[in-house]
Amino acid sequence: MHTPSASAASDPRSSSSAWLTSWWKSAAIYQLYVRSFADGDGDGIGDLAGARAHLPYLAALGIDAIWFNPWYPSPMADAGYDISDYRSIDPVFGTLADADALIAEAYAHGIKIIIDVVPNHSSDRHPWFVAALAAGPGSAERSRFWFRPGRGVSGELPPNNWQSIFGGSAWTRVTEPDGSPGEWYLHLFAPEQPDFNWDSADVRLDFEDVLRFWFSRGVDGIRIDSAALLCKDAALPDVSGLEPPGPAHPYMDRDDVHEIYQSWRAVADEYPGRMLIGEVWLPDTGRLARYVGPGELHTVFNFPYLNCPWDAASLRQVIDSTLALDAPATWVLSNHDVDRVVSRYGRSDTAFDLDRRPYFHGFPVDLALGTRRARAAALLTMALPGAVYIYQGEELGLWEVQDIPDELRQDPIWARTHGADPGRDGSRVPLPWSGTEPPFGFSPAGAESDPWLPQPKEWRDLTVATESANPDSMLRLYRAALRIRRSEPAFDETPLTWQPSADGVLAFDRHGASGVTDGATVRCVANLSAAPIPLPPNAEVLLASGPVYGGVLPPDTSVWLRIG
Ligand code: GLC
Repeated sequence: MHTPSASAASDPRSSSSAWLTSWWKSAAIYQLYVRSFADGDGDGIGDLAGARAHLPYLAALGIDAIWFNPWYPSPMADAGYDISDYRSIDPVFGTLADADALIAEAYAHGIKIIIDVVPNHSSDRHPWFVAALAAGPGSAERSRFWFRPGRGVSGELPPNNWQSIFGGSAWTRVTEPDGSPGEWYLHLFAPEQPDFNWDSADVRLDFEDVLRFWFSRGVDGIRIDSAALLCKDAALPDVSGLEPPGPAHPYMDRDDVHEIYQSWRAVADEYPGRMLIGEVWLPDTGRLARYVGPGELHTVFNFPYLNCPWDAASLRQVIDSTLALDAPATWVLSNHDVDRVVSRYGRSDTAFDLDRRPYFHGFPVDLALGTRRARAAALLTMALPGAVYIYQGEELGLWEVQDIPDELRQDPIWARTHGADPGRDGSRVPLPWSGTEPPFGFSPAGAESDPWLPQPKEWRDLTVATESANPDSMLRLYRAALRIRRSEPAFDETPLTWQPSADGVLAFDRHGASGVTDGATVRCVANLSAAPIPLPPNAEVLLASGPVYGGVLPPDTSVWLRIG
């Protein structure tokens, strides 16, 4: 186990005390979806051994921190977001000793570790839920969850009309210990994910203990899953579907959720340099702003940026409203819940929203266009002031796999919506590392099982090995951008200054700590218009997302320029 004050060998900033306490304000953070990253033991599922073996790859990529999706013991009804023990590691991924070794090894590479904590719900195999089922109605054990009698003559109807975010009713009826049909319990996600009752002191204290458990093992940050959903109106009223998230909504973004995060912040502050990031999907930036600040979460994910269409005016608006928040920005192009960015930007309709996934199922994608735009978006994103999140495979330009055979789909969303929503499997396909056919080095030679989701054969052109050897690959672009982002003083914690630009073009300067144009200024120009635009004369091209000749920047291309 490491101590946070020890210095990492290869991170040039590790000796800076400002970096140690506020690394999360400007870090490049790699989202490692452990099931799909690298399989060390040949069972077709990624694991901690695979992650450890590839830490040098991540160090060479130039990231500062890794966010691990849930690695805890889980029946895997929702790929690990149904947790049965918050203080251990699922055997399919490894052991607690493996996690300790991974944290220490990452640290030696100068890489920090963020883990996922899921406070809204547990697994139905969590000992507390098992005890609640056994203890029966009215018990203290049941008060840690939301159990209620049903409506109807004999309680045969759910207690209210809430719908699961994964489709179907948010309530499931239990069989009581005596064998009779009994109460119902609430699950905003799958039935295997019963919602905790955050009015329960047991729940509050236990989660504070979970945070301390991981912080004292050396974890540097916590990603808080479904952070706006924890508090419910105990009267459990029906919803009309028209209530906006906020105090009038019975379970989304209620005001009392903030007390929880204030107490979590106090726990985080017991450990120097630790951070909390919330998964908060809220369209209203004013409501979002309430989650961040000195007494609460350090940052939240920037989903408006992710959802934004590939359109300069819309992006400018999201960037400005993000920077207006009184909290360090985060910039996110993709994650394990959304369609991959190459596919989103390769459609004729580039605006995304979780609710639009069914509409996009089978939608035509121009992969060449999507890739060109994703490259341009990468440079735009990495030039913005704040932290950047990179979802594994984004650096390889992987696309959303739309043609997974139905019988191989794993996401509960697919089954619960009866196939109307394809779910998220297409963004979770195991990474291609090397070789010319599946499993592309994801599993070791002679592995007993195929990867848990099938990989497209075309990914032979997108393996880490192939892309490492190709100077024009997405991987080489990400490596170069991350290297420049780390080494140029202009990309320190400094604001941006918008520059005049034509319609469809975004142009801004980063000036470096001195705040003046002194040769250290880097300008980012992103051309989202349909026509080439002239570049400023005498500017040195530091990096371009595509070919730049004759002083013009082609459409769907971004460039970083040194301005003298
Ligand atoms: C979050 C996770 C998602 C998960 C859900 C329920 O949105 O990112 O993957 O299914 O919460 O835990």
